[in-house]
Amino acid sequence: MIELSPLHSEIKRVIKASGPMPVWRYMELCLMHPEHGYYISRDPLGREGDFTTAPEVSQMFGELLGLWAASVWKASGSPQQFRLIELGPGRGTMMSDALRALRVLPPLYQTISVHMVEINPVLREKQKATLTGLRNITWHESFDDVPEGPSVIFANEYFDVLPIHQMLKRETGWHERVVELDAEENFAYGTAAEPTPGFELLLPPLVRAAPLGAIFEWRPNNEIMAIAKRIREQRGAAVIIDYGHVRSDVGDTFQAIARHSFADPLKTPGLADITAHVDFEALARAADAVGARVHGPITQSEFLRRLGIETRALTLMQKASPDISRDIASGLKRLIEGGRGGMGSLFKVLGLSDASIPVLAGISDEHTGGKPGGA
Ligand SMILES: C[S@@+](CC[C@H](N)C(=O)[O-])C[C@H]1O[C@@H](n2cnc3c(N)ncnc32)[C@H](O)[C@@H]1O
Repeated sequence: MIELSPLHSEIKRVIKASGPMPVWRYMELCLMHPEHGYYISRDPLGREGDFTTAPEVSQMFGELLGLWAASVWKASGSPQQFRLIELGPGRGTMMSDALRALRVLPPLYQTISVHMVEINPVLREKQKATLTGLRNITWHESFDDVPEGPSVIFANEYFDVLPIHQMLKRETGWHERVVELDAEENFAYGTAAEPTPGFELLLPPLVRAAPLGAIFEWRPNNEIMAIAKRIREQRGAAVIIDYGHVRSDVGDTFQAIARHSFADPLKTPGLADITAHVDFEALARAADAVGARVHGPITQSEFLRRLGIETRALTLMQKASPDISRDIASGLKRLIEGGRGGMGSLFKVLGLSDASIPVLAGISDEHTGGKPGGA
């Protein structure tokens, strides 16, 4: 018999009392319930955890992002005060590698202040341990709390954990998808009885023309708009890296991952990572509407190659033992190759900048001055 999580009983109680809950609310409770939420109670990363992210695959990822931040600082006219902000920094590995790379640039290294936006107390402690001894680091519960000033914002695998709405197309229109109880009191999917009025007017033409039964996923734009607004008004750039699609389209990508395998999101609330792919067209559109300059998206493979990851790997391998060399080579492969297990084409990179920065290193097509590089 499957052991039910404490959150399972809690959600069941809420559904019995108030009726079916939208998928976004179910996802929000699974990840952020104040006591049992997945991102409140544990460190999910690494071989011992549930999944591995790019900074945990290889130090090269964070190092290149550090040098990317330096290129933004230069393009911003080398301001005297500069902030590095990371949203959802995991174990702090990427920031630690980025800062190590930035030590070669004392004029920047000595001016930066680092801001870690993290809700998970367990991971916050890990980040403090990883970054111990480094000065000028502040932790924040929310992006809104980060002080003003020119900055670079990193968001790696951050947007995929933000709750999504799922909409199902029926003859009567687009209905919000919900989680309800079946006859055996297990969680099951259903739809709201009434369609959401006017929803289809908000949809891109490709999605509007979808067949009956299609599912469309969307996230509220408040996070991306806050990032874009800050970049536009206070100068600098943001880089958003995640798995997802370049064009808005239909499809059910709501998924759970536990112990490095896919799981049923309705079976293990609070015990598995629950995510959905990121719609990069929607992010780009929202950022553009706020007045930020949009660059890309392009694939992670293209981005890291343009930043010189292959040369960096060769340099590291020259000084390494055969075992370490093999690790470097397999990390490189995982980061840039497509196909099964590779992150190179599934992951996309979107850049945002203020209007004074026409080109972002590795992302914009330098000949078109920031127009999408295509993926
Ligand atoms: C999938 S992990 C990615 C970690 C890290 N960026 C990496 O690449 O290793 C998601 C991160 O976002 C954090 N997180 C989730 N929801 C958040 C929120 N609403 N505000 C701030 N951080 C959040 C998690 O605790 C975790 O650090």
